[in-house]
Amino acid sequence: MLKGKKILLCVTGGIASYKSPAICSLLRKNEAEVKVIMTENATKFVTPLTFQTMSNNVCHVEMFNQLFNMDVEHISLAKWADVIVIAPATANVIGKFANGIADDMLTTVLMASRSPVMIAPGMNTFMLNSDANKDNMETLKKRGVIILDTATDVLACNDYGSGKMLEPAEIVEEIDFLLTTKDLSGKNFVITAGPTMEPLDPVRYLTNHSSGKMGYALAKCAKKRGASVTLISGPTSLNPPKVDKFVSVKTTRDMFDAVGEFFDESDVLIKAAAPADYRPKKYSEEKIKKTAKNDLNILEMEKNPDIARHYGSLKKDQIIVGFAAESTNIYEYAKQKLEKKNFDMIVVNNIKREGAGFGTDTNIVSIIDKDKVDDLEIMSKTDLANEILDRVKKLMS
Ligand code: PMT
Repeated sequence: MLKGKKILLCVTGGIASYKSPAICSLLRKNEAEVKVIMTENATKFVTPLTFQTMSNNVCHVEMFNQLFNMDVEHISLAKWADVIVIAPATANVIGKFANGIADDMLTTVLMASRSPVMIAPGMNTFMLNSDANKDNMETLKKRGVIILDTATDVLACNDYGSGKMLEPAEIVEEIDFLLTTKDLSGKNFVITAGPTMEPLDPVRYLTNHSSGKMGYALAKCAKKRGASVTLISGPTSLNPPKVDKFVSVKTTRDMFDAVGEFFDESDVLIKAAAPADYRPKKYSEEKIKKTAKNDLNILEMEKNPDIARHYGSLKKDQIIVGFAAESTNIYEYAKQKLEKKNFDMIVVNNIKREGAGFGTDTNIVSIIDKDKVDDLEIMSKTDLANEILDRVKKLMS
């Protein structure tokens, strides 16, 4: 979603500026256009050449050496940007911006700009929490400037506390969030993700290889596009994304209940999870021992509810998107599931193909609805999530 977006990255003189080239690099990897302004002090930490090379654009520092350019440089930069991101933002630049001081290239561009401004503070914890800085940040917030949180850690000065600039990937995520068109706003999405876990005894359980990546990508993208998102997740090692409600479940029956809680209010249900179809018939309160009697046939199973089929049968106006993980006859099995579970659309992946299915960052799928089958090329789970959401949007309209 950052493709073609114009980002003006402003770097000020704090130690966190050593991370700013990584922000530039990530933005470029996401196909954004980047221009950089540095304060004179920032050049003591990182060189303009670094940013020039990484952004593939001139890095601006001084106000008055732009004679080679016929434009009024600070005005044209201010007009060019879709967003201005100050990372790191020192207490000094925050103070100048809040109080209308424009005494160098960076602060002059800020003063001249009508673009949204995002600030990623990076400073000592006492400076961050000083009355002056808190007042300045409050003033900027009131003017609509987006001020990102800081992390709490041991800082460069060895003090422990808040004030550490967010990581480059987190900052890029925030920029992406800000610039993404909110074309799904007003819609309620319920998304399931990950595996479920069926306990056998206090030590053992049955599960599958789902990492949750596909479902989390869908939740993240839907949220970025303005939807209200409830993510119901089985156990995964991923950090929960920023959604409206995150519901952590363990077993298929837990997931069944959680979907039931939110289904009636939903506009869209996406079943990207891989719930276990069976569970051990008996849960042993004590660890099952390796006795001769237990050596064989200790696993008696019973069926779990089919969540998708149950709520598919109760569907009113909702759009329901199912997934299918198959290893043979993929179209045939997927079409059967589309009908049986009353899906509007099913996304089927052949889990035997390299780059598809469980655990990978990419997927190779076919999307099947009542009229057609579309075979898609390999793509990132994020791109696939957006492709699915585009199709859901069409179905809703
Ligand atoms: O999590 P990742 O590592 O990123 O991997 C992604 C994925 C491969 C898990 C995902 O893309 C996927 O294919 N999910 C569906 C896996 C699955 O359970 O497939 P299925 O063919 O068994 O089930 C068909 C549909 O019914 C699915 O939408 C499933 O969520 C749903 N189902 C299945 C069983 C059950 N008891 N209740 C259900 O609701």
